[in-house]
Amino acid sequence: MAASPLPLPLPLPLPLPDRIRGRFPIFDSKVYVNSCSQGALSDAVRAAYEGYLTDWDERGAPWGYWMEKQEEARASFAGLVGATTDEVAVTTSVSAGVSALASGLDLRGRKVVVSNYEFPTIGQIWHAQEARGAEIVHVAAAEPGRPIPLERFAEAIDERTALVSITAVCYRNGALTDIAGVVELAREHGALVLLDAYQAAGTIPLDVRALDVDFLATGVLKYLLGSAGLGFLYVRRGLVESILPTDTGWFADRDIFEMDIFDYSPAPTAARFQSGTPPIPSIYAGVAGMELMQEIGIAETRTHVLGLTDRLIAGVDELDGRVVTPREHASRGALVCIASTDDHALVAGLAADGIEASCRDGNLRISPHCYNSAGDIDAVLASLRRQRALLVRGDA
Ligand SMILES: Cc1ncc(COP(=O)(O)O)c(C=O)c1O
Repeated sequence: MAASPLPLPLPLPLPLPDRIRGRFPIFDSKVYVNSCSQGALSDAVRAAYEGYLTDWDERGAPWGYWMEKQEEARASFAGLVGATTDEVAVTTSVSAGVSALASGLDLRGRKVVVSNYEFPTIGQIWHAQEARGAEIVHVAAAEPGRPIPLERFAEAIDERTALVSITAVCYRNGALTDIAGVVELAREHGALVLLDAYQAAGTIPLDVRALDVDFLATGVLKYLLGSAGLGFLYVRRGLVESILPTDTGWFADRDIFEMDIFDYSPAPTAARFQSGTPPIPSIYAGVAGMELMQEIGIAETRTHVLGLTDRLIAGVDELDGRVVTPREHASRGALVCIASTDDHALVAGLAADGIEASCRDGNLRISPHCYNSAGDIDAVLASLRRQRALLVRGDA
């Protein structure tokens, strides 16, 4: 009897980025390292947009189906951050979610402590609450580009503090906030914590229970591989019904199809932080993007990106440039910022070399993601070498 053939070993999955890079056509024509602005377009998200148009053709005005899609988005995001669906509002932006939240908080005579690493929209929304009696207190960094020290938060947070507003990763220097440290300080004084996770979601695993934050706002445009127009606000279950947003709309109602103009009866869930018609096209794209990111793996992406950014930082050191972002893995996200004497000229110079990056605040921003390769980083470094005159020297 012939011996049965030995089973062939299953092929090992390719490491990142090789197993997925082909799904992002932008890499056929350029080196894309600008995910802090917008993630690259995938085949899945393109197909989702096409699906939206096909459904429009074939189904007309499928409101019931759209509601299913909205619930799909809610469930997908809840799964991504370890929340339950009744704790998630489907919004159109971080700004929309945070504005709805702010509108429902009684801030008269209370303080909101805001880190100086926030995206402008966050600072602006909290300052708008001054008209409603809030006092806004800022927490500054001790050194540019370093995480804001906890002592600075400790000095600002007190018994009058209603809420502490922090960003996970700063959009202009890449510093990762000591979220656990801030949450602990806030808890000591009975203050709530809002986390803006836009520069972290999709590139760092996030779990709202482990983070122990009360609110988390983000969108899908960047590392979640979706497009503009879809955001989420997580609200801790026990807090939802104690907050009555006045920035509202029919999609925040207990029964949106009741069409009742005679009262305000918000949903008993976090849907009460929603407003008008959901961003349906962006929901199609966002669900596809989030699913793709889950399939790729956020934890593996984090390890992969730290490897790429280590390589970038070492290369910039070799060029005697100045990296503004903290070097420790625990203190940085995917974004690495490099000081420039003329950041706009540097971005234009990179573009001339086929590399798309961005800048803020005098710094070049390089933000690799799951699809970037060591070759992309080397291309950036080669371009920086050619444009060395635009780098601030490391010891300057
Ligand atoms: C950290 C952070 N928060 C908020 C935003 C903007 O949010 P939205 O436009 O969805 O209100 C951005 C966009 O770049 C961001 O990087």
